[in-house]
Amino acid sequence: MGRLFRWFSRPIIAVQDSEKAHSRSLLMLRFASSNPMFRWVLRLLYKPKKSLKIHCFGLDYDHPFGLAAGMDKKAEALRGWESIGLAFSEIGGVTMHEQGGNPKPRMFRHGADRALVNRMGFNNPGSEKIVTTLEKAGKQNIPVWANLGKSKITPLEEARFDYSTSLKRMWPFVDVFVVNVSSPNTPGLRDLQHGDHLTGILDSCIEVNQQCADLYGKTRKPILIKVAPDLSDEELEAIVDAAIQSQIDGIVATNTTLSRPNKEHPVYIEQGGCSGLPLKDRSTDMIRHIYAYTEGQLPIVGVGGIMNADDAWEKITAGASLLQAYAGFVFEGPSLTKSIVHGLHKKLRDSEFESIDEAIGAYHR
Ligand SMILES: Cc1cc2nc3c(=O)[nH]c(=O)nc-3n(C[C@H](O)[C@H](O)[C@H](O)COP(=O)(O)O)c2cc1C
Repeated sequence: MGRLFRWFSRPIIAVQDSEKAHSRSLLMLRFASSNPMFRWVLRLLYKPKKSLKIHCFGLDYDHPFGLAAGMDKKAEALRGWESIGLAFSEIGGVTMHEQGGNPKPRMFRHGADRALVNRMGFNNPGSEKIVTTLEKAGKQNIPVWANLGKSKITPLEEARFDYSTSLKRMWPFVDVFVVNVSSPNTPGLRDLQHGDHLTGILDSCIEVNQQCADLYGKTRKPILIKVAPDLSDEELEAIVDAAIQSQIDGIVATNTTLSRPNKEHPVYIEQGGCSGLPLKDRSTDMIRHIYAYTEGQLPIVGVGGIMNADDAWEKITAGASLLQAYAGFVFEGPSLTKSIVHGLHKKLRDSEFESIDEAIGAYHR
């Protein structure tokens, strides 16, 4: 199926506008996963035949590989992600207010480099509407994570309220929350990664989380923070300290980067965040740094440029407990999950480790 995608679908997608191609693919997946028979076909084609069980953030996962934020901003293809074999999906970024995002075009593809540049700007229906969608979709078979962003109209000083309101609204329907203060496409958002802004947001989310847990008579949900790859080591360590201080459950590393491998291709001249292969090494370095700095005490979700099982293994041994991808699906197609999980299975068999758990952070030992 991977070959079918490479020979047939990829050339068709390559000539389409990036955002239109994305919307069409999502619509197709949504349609295909709306019917039990089609879901069965999707599972047959794309679901990995092997599992690599892992327990993280109090939840069980079939394997460590999930969907990164930004792909399903409206939570419209929830059943599709499970059908094509992902172990978890992250919806959003979701903001408190509905917003259209930046003017189009705002998403660009560099096929030869397997790179994307985007400046979407959190286009999403807002957390109130997302709740209706999640309610209608019902209980999912895989954990559903939500990426929390800040509405453009909300001043930075009131950001904590924006994040915690979305968290409160979605609480009954979401298993894990990711506080995203690292998207480069909302003015000033990355300033929220530092100092009082950050602790204010984290503390407010933790407080609302506890209130919801008490209200629904359940345990509190894991809250993670997603960081930018453009931070210095000192800035990253300050964020990790703040996260530990606020009793945050984990770190997602990383979001897209403002840096470019070169300025020669028109895609790299576009404003926005770059992801895919050019981000891979920087994201892995950050995972290594966080793992070493925390001595493996804070679970890390590795994301950035994962295109195959080698990339996935590198991030696990660097210290990631779970993995996500966005660009990989654009360039490798829906069979990416199967090829990664089967490849990781083989890597594990050829290694001295008994389980994925043992391989996490092996680079450091
Ligand atoms: C079009 C697009 C939209 C994205 N939207 C979000 C978002 O809303 N929130 C977020 O935290 N990350 C967002 N991301 C970043 C991805 O979740 C991921 O961190 C990044 O793309 C690196 O992974 P990759 O190299 O596998 O694409 C977006 C990425 C792309 C390409």
